[in-house]
Amino acid sequence: MSSLSDMLTIILLAPHISSAIFWETAKLWMKGSKVIVLDIPLLFETKMDRWTHPVIVVWVDPQTQIERLMSRDGCSEEQAHNRINAQLALDWKKSEADIVINNSGSLDDTKEQFQEVLRKVSEPLTWKERLRSRDGLFSVVLCTAVGVLLAQKNFL
Ligand SMILES: *[C@@H]1O[C@H](CO)[C@@H](O)[C@H](O)[C@H]1NC(C)=O
Repeated sequence: MSSLSDMLTIILLAPHISSAIFWETAKLWMKGSKVIVLDIPLLFETKMDRWTHPVIVVWVDPQTQIERLMSRDGCSEEQAHNRINAQLALDWKKSEADIVINNSGSLDDTKEQFQEVLRKVSEPLTWKERLRSRDGLFSVVLCTAVGVLLAQKNFL
């Protein structure tokens, strides 16, 4: 039962979540933020991974995941299993990630890994990375379009 209602929640909320996140991101981008961190637990389920790069998965081993869920929400082991089964397997998400943070250790350990990742993604992009990014592709398309327009103008 709980997995079905979790699924329904995901389906019903997804459009609202994504438009809120979209506007928030657009605002930050206009303010000139170079790195915007979106914390989206259902990133893959809502297919928002198409718009984000790099994708960072915070991974935890299955046993620790169950134990933490039980102690946080005070649910039974079975309920914890059901909740986890309603989401895509964390190991699959890990395989889709660009960067993995191992959250199986202490909180300090996880924070340290996060700082390291933040340092890495804050570094300026190389030319190749810039070309491969969505932004880069957009500016290349824009340059080409402007180039074509200018060329046509010169012809006329
Ligand atoms: C994740 O971290 C735990 C605790 O530090 C460690 O025991 C485990 O080997 C790590 N697992 C992976 C896949 O890195």
